[in-house]
Amino acid sequence: MIKSICFGFAVIIIILSTASFNEQPVQLVPNETVNSLLLALGDAQLPHQIDHSIEGVSAKRGEEIIKNGFTVNHKGNKVRKQSKHFVCTSCHNLVKEDPNLSVSDPEDRLRYAIENDLPFLQGTTLYGAVNRTSFYNDDYYKKYGDLVYEARGDIRNAIQLCATECAQGRALEDWEIESILSYLYDIDLKVGDLRFTSIERDFIEKALNEETSKSEAIEIVKSKFLSGSPATFVDPPVKRKNLVFDKPDLQMGKMIYERSCLHCHANGKYSYLTLDNTKLTFAHLSKKANGYKRHSMYQVIRYGVPSYVMKKSYMPHYTAERMNEDQLNNLRAYIDYMAKR
Ligand code: HEC
Ligand code: HEC
Repeated sequence: MIKSICFGFAVIIIILSTASFNEQPVQLVPNETVNSLLLALGDAQLPHQIDHSIEGVSAKRGEEIIKNGFTVNHKGNKVRKQSKHFVCTSCHNLVKEDPNLSVSDPEDRLRYAIENDLPFLQGTTLYGAVNRTSFYNDDYYKKYGDLVYEARGDIRNAIQLCATECAQGRALEDWEIESILSYLYDIDLKVGDLRFTSIERDFIEKALNEETSKSEAIEIVKSKFLSGSPATFVDPPVKRKNLVFDKPDLQMGKMIYERSCLHCHANGKYSYLTLDNTKLTFAHLSKKANGYKRHSMYQVIRYGVPSYVMKKSYMPHYTAERMNEDQLNNLRAYIDYMAKR
């Protein structure tokens, strides 16, 4: 008898403890995806869902295309390299590159790149690309015309546009695009990437637990990252000779040279033009900078180097959000300094 009472108590205690376990308040978890948080708050699904019905779709294949330019299809055959000139990571990072995801600031980004040993590039990171709803924003229509309008609201068209126009390669097949999209879902934004104040955090947790103020909570979450990467085209400076810079930051100029220019030009990696740390190279860049042809750093940084039918490899330009005027000046000052050393 005593035994069975004890047993009864034990069962009740277990039920009570699991019940209270179930009722534990939901809390924000840093490695949870922002997408699942928004869905839990009742937000609509992202417009680009992965179509798993296409044969051969896999995030691993997507990752291989992005990093190596090719993969193996579902029949086990190696597919043709996407581009002879580039891979996606020539121009895009695959990790977080901005300390504060609600602003696109090249100074913050360069500091963050130095702290985290990242390249500093023309394309926006593909980390969190699936969380965006607008692509090739603002001035990009000036470069790609009508193609931009198809890509602006559609990530699949954005990927295809980049494969053929940015990477100057063959068009991707449907299963390849879907595989890339699947991989992009692996590198989507995480709750820990967003900078909530403690008040905002409490507000969101309350909305999750008490089913109140959900739309306000969604708004708070969405205010913490950009829904599209802004892009402003700027002209290079007209005056390029005998420049005098007021306290240039040579260290920052060096960082741009190393994390940007050398990313593609070291050992002629993505370009026939080899850049290195010799005095000769800096003297060449410094002298050519004064001119108005494509050998001038100003010309290539602000206008890029165009692609021709016979010569497809080209250099993408830097928008104001990817390199600002101060950074351009610091780079020039560093190149001049190294040329005269
Ligand atoms: C030669 C440089 C280069 C290569 C190679 C390249 N891209 Fe891009 N990509 C860009 C630039 C520049 C943009 C312009 C918009 C931005 O990223 O800020 C862009 C835009 C994009 C966008 C839209 C981003 C946005 O938020 O507007 C996606 C998605 C993208 N690229 C995917 C890819 C994929 C996938 C590959 C490889 C198959 C690739 N890119 C290869 C330079 C490149
Ligand atoms: C995403 C890769 C990439 C980055 C980053 C990059 N370049 Fe280039 N650059 C190229 C490619 C590709 C060309 C085209 C020439 C070719 O086909 O090799 C080029 C061309 C040039 C040219 C013209 C060469 C000539 O004489 O015709 C200059 C000068 C140049 N780059 C300087 C720079 C400087 C300075 C930086 C850093 C701010 C930089 N590049 C960053 C890829 C890049």
